[in-house]
This record gives sequence, structure tokens and C-alpha cells, in this order.
Amino acid sequence: SKPRVLIARKIFPEVVQRLSQHFHVQANDADTPWNPAELVAQLQDKDGALTTGSQRIDGELLAACPRLKIVANMAVGYNNFDVAAMSAAGVQGTNTPDVLTETTADFGFALLMATARRMTEAEHYLRAGRWRNWSYDMFAGGEVHGSTLAILGMGRIGQAIARRGAHGFGMRVIYHNRSRLDAQLEAECRATYVDKNTLLAQADHLVLVLPYTPESHHAIGAAELARMKPTATLINIARGGIVDDAALAQALKDRRIAAAGLDVFEGEPRVHPGLLEVPNVVLTPHIASATVATRLAMANLAADNLIAFFETGRALTPVNAPQTP
Ligand code: GLV
Ligand code: GLV
Repeated sequence: SKPRVLIARKIFPEVVQRLSQHFHVQANDADTPWNPAELVAQLQDKDGALTTGSQRIDGELLAACPRLKIVANMAVGYNNFDVAAMSAAGVQGTNTPDVLTETTADFGFALLMATARRMTEAEHYLRAGRWRNWSYDMFAGGEVHGSTLAILGMGRIGQAIARRGAHGFGMRVIYHNRSRLDAQLEAECRATYVDKNTLLAQADHLVLVLPYTPESHHAIGAAELARMKPTATLINIARGGIVDDAALAQALKDRRIAAAGLDVFEGEPRVHPGLLEVPNVVLTPHIASATVATRLAMANLAADNLIAFFETGRALTPVNAPQTP
């Protein structure tokens, strides 16, 4: 009989339809964000799952779901997975790399530009009916073209942002990453490797595009913000928790840095109240990959992983090598 697959949140009906041709599908048409106990109850009798990045898959859940063989995340990040626990339990994890790279880089650049040029702050002013006059410094922001673009985390998305900056905006691109790119990729991105302190000190616009791990927790905190230029901006399209949001709110309030653009937050969907109080931050609700075409491609890749895994035993974009139980 067909494997049983849970789809943890509402996704495109046509993708549910495709999955239904291969599996006994249980969808979440009400789009309820299940708590961990509810998720276990839904997943107990399932062989596979499609998750969206906000369902935690850990040892406790796995122990209660012994049939589970694969969890396909509809996200490139998979910090919702306890990868070691999944591997030990013989559970395959997959993510959705590549299909969202350019779209996410577009959004990172949009957020950078909106932040540097104070677009949302200016719009709020206009909407509030406060535009009466011209003044020489009205919403005067920081320069984008020709400035120094600093990228922390130089994976596929970081490289796509580097290309935009170098080739489209004549920016000087510096980056820091756990490992250096090879010379050809560095040349394509016109990016120069620097140590983290140099990156912080020289950034006009610092863009975070690294995965969230215990090592990257609070990679940007008060000490790092203190090393940045007072004119610099900070852009986070990676994950909440990479930035210490309390320290950032304080730095923005004190104008230790000029501005921030944030698509991700510690403990989202809650947002640190200090960030809501300061004008010099552009805030978006974790939408960097949200175009219709890219979200569909992500859903289809997650579905393809489930189909390939149950048909051939091999996932297309695995994130771990599960042990045979
Ligand atoms: C979204 O945040 C993703 O990881 O794809
Ligand atoms: C993350 O791995 C990325 O695609 O940049």
C-alpha cells in the first residue's frame, strides 16, 4: 500500500494533488500551526512528512513516530531539524537549495536598498500626512552604489548577492565565511575574503546569509555592532538568533549603526519591542523567498524529494546521511 505522508502546513493545491498520486496524504487544509504534541499526534502513523521550517523535528518527536523515514523541509534552512537525532533514528532530512537562491538574493538587495535609502520610514511619514515641505536633508540616507558590501556567510545566496552588488552597483565586495571560495568563484563574485573583524569594520552594508547553528548564535551582538561604522547598515535575511536582537535594538536607538533591515527575528513571529520603537529599521515577516514561482518551486522540490525517496530510496537534496537502523 501507499506510504502515508503528512503535509504540516497548507501548500499549493496542485502540489498536494501530485503527492496524492503517490501517497496517502494527510493535508493541513485549516493551516493550523500545530504545537509539538499536536504534531506528534498527526505524525505518529506517517512514513514521511513535508514541513515548512517551523516544525521542530527532534529526538523526542522521532521516538514517538517510529514509522517516519523522511522529513522534507520546504526551506533551504533546516535549523528546525535535530540532524544528529534524525540520522541516529534512520530518518532522511531534505531541504530546498538552489530553487530560491536568486529570488532570496533579490529580496536581500531590496531590503538593503530600502534600509540604506530609508524607504519605509519615508513612506510612513508621507502616509501620516506630515509631508509639507522640502528640506535639504529630508530622509537623506547612505549610498548604495560604489559602497562596500560586506557579506557574512558566502553560500549560494551570499554569492548571488555579491554578484548583484559587484556587477550591478559597482560595489566593493568583501566576505567572511567558514571556508574561502575557490579562486574562480571569488573572481566571478568579485569578492575579497577578509577576517570577521575586518568585515565588521569596513562594511557600509553588512548582509547576513549564514545558516543558524550553535556556532552562529549571536554572531552579531553588542561587541560586533561596536566594531561597525556609525554610518553602516545591517541586513539579516538568514535566521533569527544570528543577531542579538536586544543588542541591535539598543545600537539602533543609540545610533551606534545607522539602520537595519530585518526579515528574520529571534523567537519570530514575535518581534523584540525595542525594534518596533526605533524608526531606523525596515521590518518584514520572513518573506525573502516569497514569490509565487519560487514558493511553488520549493513545494515541488520538497514533493520531489518525498517521491524520489520512496521510489528509489534516494532523496534529491538530502541534508544528512541517516544510519540504517
Ligand atoms: C527560509 O527561511 C528558508 O530557509 O528557505
Ligand atoms: C545556503 O546554503 C545558501 O543557499 O546560501
